Amino acid sequence: MGIDYSERIPNNVDLSGDRRLQRALEKWQPAFLDWWMDMGPEGWQAKDVYLRTAVSVDKGGWANFGYVKMPEYRWGIFLTPQEEGRKVGFGDHADEDAWQTVPGEYRNMLQRIIVTQADTEPASVEQQRYLGATAPSLYDLRNLFQVNVEEGRHLWAMVYLLHGYFGRDGREEAEELLARRAGDVDKPRILDAFNQECPDWLTFFCFTTFTDRDGKYQLGALAESGFDPLARTCRFMLTEEAHHLFVGQTGVERVLRRGVELAKQAPDGDARTLGGIRPATVQKYVNYWFSYSLDLFGSEISSNAADFFASGLKGRWQEMKRYDDHVALEAHVPMTVVENGVLTQQHVPMRNAMNEVLRGEYVSDCESVVEKWNKALEQEGSDFRITLPSTRFHRRQGIYADGHFDLQGNPISEEEWEAKRAGWLPSDEERRYVASLMKAVYEPGKMANWIAPPRRGIDGHTVEFEYVRV
Ligand SMILES: [Fe+2]
Ligand SMILES: [Fe+2]
Repeated sequence: MGIDYSERIPNNVDLSGDRRLQRALEKWQPAFLDWWMDMGPEGWQAKDVYLRTAVSVDKGGWANFGYVKMPEYRWGIFLTPQEEGRKVGFGDHADEDAWQTVPGEYRNMLQRIIVTQADTEPASVEQQRYLGATAPSLYDLRNLFQVNVEEGRHLWAMVYLLHGYFGRDGREEAEELLARRAGDVDKPRILDAFNQECPDWLTFFCFTTFTDRDGKYQLGALAESGFDPLARTCRFMLTEEAHHLFVGQTGVERVLRRGVELAKQAPDGDARTLGGIRPATVQKYVNYWFSYSLDLFGSEISSNAADFFASGLKGRWQEMKRYDDHVALEAHVPMTVVENGVLTQQHVPMRNAMNEVLRGEYVSDCESVVEKWNKALEQEGSDFRITLPSTRFHRRQGIYADGHFDLQGNPISEEEWEAKRAGWLPSDEERRYVASLMKAVYEPGKMANWIAPPRRGIDGHTVEFEYVRV
C-alpha cells in the first residue's frame, strides 16, 4: 500500500486508473489551494515548517519528516488496505458483504454523514488561522501547523469519497465545503463547536483535547462502517488524529504545570501575579470546551442514530472488538432524562441510544486525560484538581438543552444559572487576561512565560530545534 507521490494528487487508490475521477479531483485541487491560501494559517505560507507527511499507511513508520512550505504540502488520498472478504459488521445487514459502492437505499444518509464529518475539517483550520501570530514557541507553532495541514488532508479524504461515490451531488457538496466559513453568519459551518472562536492558545489546547477527541470517536464509529471505502478512509485518519490529541493534552498539562510553578514563586500565591494562568481558569475553559464537544455527538435519544446503526453505516466504538450483539435490538441503555424539570431514569432501546453510547466512550477517555493532568498537578505540589462537569452542564443540543444544570448535573433555575455562570465558564475578564498573555515567542527553544516547556521535541529533535524557520 505504498503511496504514489509522482502523481499530482498523491494517493494509494490507483487514481490514475480512473481518469474521470482524477480529472474531477484535479479540478477541485486549485480550489482547495485557494481556500488554503485564504483561510489557512495567516502569514506563514512562505515559511519552512518541519512537518510530517504520510509515506505509507502501514502501522508505525508511516511518516516522513522534513521542512515544507505549507502550500507545497502533499495533500493526498490514503486508505488502509482492503480487507479480503470483509462483511458488514452490525445492524440489519450484519454478515452481508461490505459495500464497495454506495447502497442505493442509504445514499442520502451516507452522504449526510460524510458531509457532516468533512465540514469539521476545514472549519478547524479556519478557527485556528490567526494563532501563528501568538505562538508560545516554535515547537508549538510547528504543532499547530501539523494539525492544520492534517485537517486539510482529512478534507481531502472526505472529498475523495464525495467525488468518487456520489457523482454530481458529491462534487457540489465538495464545492460547498470550501464555501462555508467557521463563524460566518450567512454561511456557517454545520456544527456549532466549529463556529466558535479560537482566539488564544489555551482555547486551542482545549479544542484539540476535547473537540478533536470527538473526531476520534466519530471516525472510530465510521471506521466500523459497512461502506468499505469510508471505513478504510477513517482508519487512516485515526492514526493522524492521535497527534492532534497529544498536542491538546500536553498543551493543557504544560499550562497547568507552569501556573502552579508561578503561583509558588508569587508572594501572594497567585499565578496571575507573575503572568501565569490559574488552574481555576483552565478548569473553566475545560468546562466550556467539554460541554461544547459533548453536543457534537447529537441527541441522547435519536432515531437518526438508530437509522445509522440499523443501516450498517455507523457502528459503536470498536464495534467488532468490544461487542457480541451486533444487532442491538434487545438491549436497553439506562438514561437520566428530565421530566417536568425533575431527573428520572429511563431505559432507552440501544439503537436509539447510540449517540449516548458513543458519548459515554468519549467521556471515559476524557476522564483518563483529566487523570493525567491531575497527576501533573500532584507532581508540581498543587492541591488543585481538574474535574469534568456533568454531561448535563451547559448543553445546547440534546435532551438537557432546555434546562439549566450545575456542574454536578443538578437542575437549577435560570436565575441561579445566570448568577453562577461566571464562576463556571470563562468570564470576559478572564478571556481578556488570557488574550493579554498571547505574545509570540519565535526564538528556538524559548517558551512564553505562561507555559512550561515540553518534555521532548518532535521526531527525536531537541526542544531547541528550529521547528519553523521564521
Ligand atoms: Fe480531522
Ligand atoms: Fe484533528
